[in-house]
Amino acid sequence: MLAMNYRGPYRVRADHKPYPEILHPEDAIVRVTRSCICGSDLHLYHGLVPDTRVGMTFGHEFIGIVEEIGPSVQNLKVGDHVIVPFNVACGKCVFCEQQMYGNCHESNSQATAVGGIFGYSHTAGGYDGGQAEYVRVPYADVGPTVIPAEMHPDDAVLLTDVVPTGYQAAEMGGIKPGDTVVVFGAGPVGIMAAKCAWLFGAGRVIVIDHIEYRLEFVKNYAQCEAYNFRSLEDPVLFIKKTTDWIGADVCIDAVGCEAAGSALQTITGVKLMLQAGAATALHWAINSVKKGGIVSIVGVYGPTGNLIPIGNVVNKGITIRANQASVKRLLPRLIEHIKEGRLDPKAIITHRVPLEEVGDAYHIFSAKLDNCIKTILIPPSAGI
Ligand SMILES: NC(=O)c1ccc[n+]([C@@H]2O[C@H](COP(=O)([O-])OP(=O)(O)OC[C@H]3O[C@@H](n4cnc5c(N)ncnc54)[C@H](O)[C@@H]3O)[C@@H](O)[C@H]2O)c1
Ligand SMILES: [Zn+2]
Ligand SMILES: [Zn+2]
Repeated sequence: MLAMNYRGPYRVRADHKPYPEILHPEDAIVRVTRSCICGSDLHLYHGLVPDTRVGMTFGHEFIGIVEEIGPSVQNLKVGDHVIVPFNVACGKCVFCEQQMYGNCHESNSQATAVGGIFGYSHTAGGYDGGQAEYVRVPYADVGPTVIPAEMHPDDAVLLTDVVPTGYQAAEMGGIKPGDTVVVFGAGPVGIMAAKCAWLFGAGRVIVIDHIEYRLEFVKNYAQCEAYNFRSLEDPVLFIKKTTDWIGADVCIDAVGCEAAGSALQTITGVKLMLQAGAATALHWAINSVKKGGIVSIVGVYGPTGNLIPIGNVVNKGITIRANQASVKRLLPRLIEHIKEGRLDPKAIITHRVPLEEVGDAYHIFSAKLDNCIKTILIPPSAGI
């Protein structure tokens, strides 16, 4: 079958790989009809995630048709069209029981932090991902969810990660009616977080980035304010001034470890890897939020230390909430929001590329070329 193949930093291509097999009675094999490239894939692509092995297939955002099921699978049947959450989750461990599917204790049992994630290095369990024609889906009774008949497949594929992550970012912010919410990052996740902030009753939503076409997009799509941090003298000062020197009620970090905006952070965090990523956006979030405010982090960072202003967290009494999104927990609510027209995820899709051209697709998304926001990869056997 055709699959994306990681050959080393900045080098990915489509190759022929063996068709995946059922390895456990609870597995299913899914024929992928669409997959996406995510900002999280860029951390892999840039060689920043430990134990990303040559030969791995990325792709944690995919939908498809159930092709085969293992003998123990009860909830799925061959032919079902399914949304497959990016978390690989057992459904039975102490964390899954609390619906913390992103923190499953079984699917990545060698790690103490993150659970299993499709196509996300051996740090996240070593599962091959869905930027391929077929993929093995473990614990098939847990994650995969049948796509509602009336749902557009482009909306469905964004329910595997971007929509739940943006929504959970807003949810973790504990937004109260009338709150001012600042979202750092106007990538797909930040765009969705800004949109979802209104669903929780925000009174004002401000997005910060430095890519003009994304700021322009989010301003229209999420009907929010959007500012380029390169044209602000200091983004923190700007937020303070525009909130009567109180600070934002809630700040969301939808940027993560590859943030731009601080030479010191970029050199130590990305170039020299002396810290677990450039924590520039998180730094700004902590310093822009009000005393007693909440900083919600969905941007991805490495597991070891970062240069963050922890003294300010203590002295301001800030609550920090963070996690990988728990997709399965949120799906019923988000399906409802899409059905009712409150969310229109597919509008963020700008590129639709055959899987054969995966190398170009990564380059365009990574370099932010061609006004790219979200890219969908279509495998040759998708049948669409
Ligand atoms: N927690 C989760 O479950 C989860 C799920 C999906 C993605 N993520 C993470 O969320 C982050 C965003 O994902 P995405 O797909 O939107 O990625 P993306 O790369 O498309 O977007 C990131 C955006 O941040 C902007 N940016 C860079 N430095 C900034 C700064 N200092 N301040 C403000 N904006 C800045 C970039 O210009 C870019 O537009 C990534 O770190 C990704 O790994 C987390
Ligand atoms: Zn993703
Ligand atoms: Zn579990």
